Amino acid sequence: TWTTTSIVDETVAAIREQVGNARAICALSGGVDSAVAGALVNRAIGDRLTCVFVDHGLLRSGERAQVERDFVAATGARLVVVDAVRQFGDALAGVTDPEEKRKIIGREFIRTFERAARDLQTEAGQAGERIEYLVQGTLYPDVVESGGGTGTANIKSHHNVGGLPEDLQFDLVEPLRALFKDEVRKVGSELGLPETIVQRQPFPGPGLAIRVIGEVTQQRLAVLRAADAIVREELTASGLDREIWQCPVVLLADVQSVGVQGDGRTYGYPVVLRPVSSEDAMTADWTRLPYEVLERISTRVTNEVPEVNRVTLDVTSKPPGTIEWE
Ligand code: XMP
Repeated sequence: TWTTTSIVDETVAAIREQVGNARAICALSGGVDSAVAGALVNRAIGDRLTCVFVDHGLLRSGERAQVERDFVAATGARLVVVDAVRQFGDALAGVTDPEEKRKIIGREFIRTFERAARDLQTEAGQAGERIEYLVQGTLYPDVVESGGGTGTANIKSHHNVGGLPEDLQFDLVEPLRALFKDEVRKVGSELGLPETIVQRQPFPGPGLAIRVIGEVTQQRLAVLRAADAIVREELTASGLDREIWQCPVVLLADVQSVGVQGDGRTYGYPVVLRPVSSEDAMTADWTRLPYEVLERISTRVTNEVPEVNRVTLDVTSKPPGTIEWE
C-alpha cells in the first residue's frame, strides 16, 4: 500500500539511484516543499548534499532560526546560511513599485545563490568532486501545470531563477514530483521535521517586502515583523491555523493617522489583516474571524507595536482582490 513510510523509502532509494556518488545542492526557502525535498535528499546521500539558505532580511520573526536550528537538528543536514540582509536592503532602497520589488528580489536571489553555488563548487573541486545536482521541491500540481516536462537547472517559481550560467548547470532532483501538498506534509512529519515547518502556511518568496506598501526599509520591516508575529501567535492560540489558508499582515507604510493613547496624541501607521480561506489560492474568500480574536489582535498590536495605532480588516474576496496586496 501507498503509506507514507513506503513513499519515503522508495523516494530515498530513487534519489540514491539517480545521484550515485555525486554531490547536490538545495536552496531552502523556509517553506515546506524545499525543506521536505532537502530532508529526503539528505536522508539519501547525507553530507554529499549541501543546503543553502539565503537570509534576505524579508523573513518573518523566527524563520531563520527555524531553518538554522530546527531543520538542522531534525535532519543533520549540512547547511550554509548566506546573510544577504544588507545586499537586499540596498537593492530595494527607494523602490515602491510592486513588480519592480519582485524583479529586484528575484535578481538578487539568483546572484546570491549563484555566488554560494560557485563557492561550493570550488570547494568540491578541491576535493576532486563536482556538484552535479540541484534539488527542487516541485510538486505534482506544478508538474501538471507546466506540461510535465523535466528540465535542467531551473530554480523554479515566481521569485526564482530562469536559468543558470554555464559553469553552474545542474541536473534536477525533484523528489516531490509525484506528491500533493498534504502528502508532502506527511512525508515531512515522517522525516521528523517540526510542525512549525511542516504545517507552515504559504508565504511568498519576496517575503515581507510585498507586505510593506511603499518603500521597504529595515525599520518598516521591523514594525511589520512585530505585528505579524503577534497575529500569528493569536491565530495559533485560538486554534484557527487549520481553518485559514493564510493571513497576511500588511503595513501601509505611507499612510499615517491620528490616534490617542494615554494622554498623548499619536500619529502612527495602520496595518491591515488579510485572513483568507481558500483551496488553492486561485480564488479566496475573506475569513470571518471571531470578534474576540480580532479584538485580542487589535489590542495587542496597538499596545505592543508603538508605531502602529490602527488595525484594519480586509473584507475583499479574490477576485477582485489578490491575497497579497502587491
Ligand atoms: P495572490 O496575491 O496572487 O497570491 O492572490 C496567491 C498565493 O501565492 C502566494 N504568492 C507567492 N508565492 N512567490 C511565492 O512563492 C511569490 O512571488 C508569490 N506571490 C504571491 C501568496 O502568498 C498566495 O498564497
